[in-house]
Amino acid sequence: MTVAVTGASGHLGRQVSDLLLEHLDPADVVLLTRTPETLAALAERGAVVRHADFTEPSSLADAFGGVDRALLISAVDLERRAEQHRAAIQAAAAAGVRQLIYTSVPEPSEGNPAAVVPSHRATEEALRGSGLAWTFLRNNLYAEFQVPVVRQAIASGRLVTSAGSGRTAYVSRDDCAAAAAAVLVQDGHENRAYDITGPDAISPQDIASLATELAHRPVEVVQVDDDALIAGLIAGGLPEAAARVVASFPAAAREGFLGGVSTAVEELTGAPPRSLRDVLAVGLEEAARS
Ligand SMILES: NC(=O)c1ccc[n+]([C@@H]2O[C@H](COP(=O)([O-])OP(=O)(O)OC[C@H]3O[C@@H](n4cnc5c(N)ncnc54)[C@H](OP(=O)(O)O)[C@@H]3O)[C@@H](O)[C@H]2O)c1
Repeated sequence: MTVAVTGASGHLGRQVSDLLLEHLDPADVVLLTRTPETLAALAERGAVVRHADFTEPSSLADAFGGVDRALLISAVDLERRAEQHRAAIQAAAAAGVRQLIYTSVPEPSEGNPAAVVPSHRATEEALRGSGLAWTFLRNNLYAEFQVPVVRQAIASGRLVTSAGSGRTAYVSRDDCAAAAAAVLVQDGHENRAYDITGPDAISPQDIASLATELAHRPVEVVQVDDDALIAGLIAGGLPEAAARVVASFPAAAREGFLGGVSTAVEELTGAPPRSLRDVLAVGLEEAARS
């Protein structure tokens, strides 16, 4: 069984690659990336490193050669990635890949306002229609991304949010990587979708309480509407398009699209997922040291 990881030099791709090299013969691990030179250390450990760029379909034909099962890590350009992912799916099918595992989002349905949803939904549809076996890993929001949010809240004493009391089942990227590696090495996950979540659904008030506890300083929740949140993000230096993307996640939480908690991480990996508290405690300590 030869397995591949696209986007192997990204944060998630690198973690999945390291886990695969612990569990498989390195010659059976194919790492695809736009920047093979950044994976020289993994090539030295015996992994097969190949160039692959979803925007260059000609690079994909050879990239998937000899691969049985691949993790398709979603790319970053929200406007173009559905098309990019379709090119990767077609190339994988043409090369004889049997199963593609895709990093998606919870509840990629029509009504979900998260800006990432349309391209994830389009990719899931393309995979379902591809003739390949598929597995969707619907990763909730990374817990690690709350570390800078909480640092800012501790500094100002205010956690500004438009999520209302909406909950999010934040998941550590470590657990997303472990779940992906598990599905790559195990049989029996064909044509299944898993919500990859942390152990709890967390509200803004919960985050403020965690921040208060970890920093020994009071942090209060300040609720604003979407427009005010976007204006604040722009005032903080974010381009408007990026601010709208960022603000779409608390909107999705407010509307109940991110609060589902699953047991998939433990079922797939054998270990319980990290809590947001743990990720924040470690992240705040690291930030304080740097
Ligand atoms: N759940 C969440 O909270 C959350 C947050 C942010 C992002 N995401 C999604 O999850 C993915 C993985 O997260 P991450 O933290 O590893 O992100 P990251 O470190 O920013 O990595 C970006 C990834 O996109 C790949 N990529 C970009 N353009 C590509 C192209 N043209 N062809 C092939 N691959 C391309 C990169 O591959 P190479 O550079 O190796 O070619 C890399 O794996 C992201 O790309 C994004 O879709 C999820």
